[in-house]
Amino acid sequence: MEIIIQPTAAAANRVAARLFANVIRQKPSAVLGMATGGTPLALYRELVALQLDWRKITTFNLDEYVGLAPAHSQSYHSFMWENLFRHVNIARKNVHLPDGRAKDIPKFCAKYERQIRAAGGIDLQLLGIGTEGHIGFNEPTSSLASRTRIKTLTPQTRKDNARFFGSEEQVPHHCITMGIGTILDTRHCVLLAFGSNKARAIAAAVEGPVTSMNPASALQLHPKTTVFLDEAAAAELKLQDYYRWVYDHKPDWQKI
Ligand code: F6R
Repeated sequence: MEIIIQPTAAAANRVAARLFANVIRQKPSAVLGMATGGTPLALYRELVALQLDWRKITTFNLDEYVGLAPAHSQSYHSFMWENLFRHVNIARKNVHLPDGRAKDIPKFCAKYERQIRAAGGIDLQLLGIGTEGHIGFNEPTSSLASRTRIKTLTPQTRKDNARFFGSEEQVPHHCITMGIGTILDTRHCVLLAFGSNKARAIAAAVEGPVTSMNPASALQLHPKTTVFLDEAAAAELKLQDYYRWVYDHKPDWQKI
């Protein structure tokens, strides 16, 4: 895992945007895994400002709430069109999100996995992290081998996401999420975490044991994960000085 600590979230987002832009420029038909929530908003703004060519890019989102129609203001479909897709020249047919209204959810999930494989697999997967360590909506005790499926949100996640819905009662109980196995199959994972409320989950994910109690810790098994943090999210890392030194002394060919 590469840990990149920046003084602010804005600085971290600028470096992360360069990483995404490099992939989009070097492979115009790249397959990107997208995330939602508060964390990626600034990164998406940076990417829009870079005016990249998204015509041949394919995307797969991590998750969607069960029961929400794509047009619902809090659906992740709406989130993605509002915050990224409508600002870039992506082809609608290349955009994929789980269907929260699928009648046969297991059948839909198997199809989503087939679609990812048919697209050639995900080149770059963006991830946020929940306060209890979830990636996608793989809540604590999710199987580390899991594939796309329905999950039940924990009370903590529903509480954390109540800010988007106005009240906790309105947050759906279920979601469809890529599995941890699905995420581990991607070629490069980029995990963003900002703010002190993520510090505990980040320390456990990066420096703790690999355990389904912190699903993000499964990224220790991934061959290529880059973690972007601000100072607050990095605060509980024991080896933070080491990570800073490594980043500051990267050879030119490795620089982002
Ligand atoms: C969203 C997702 C979640 C969020 C996580 C953090 O698509 O997969 O894992 O990344 O819940 O959410 P925020 O960014 O709102 O703190």
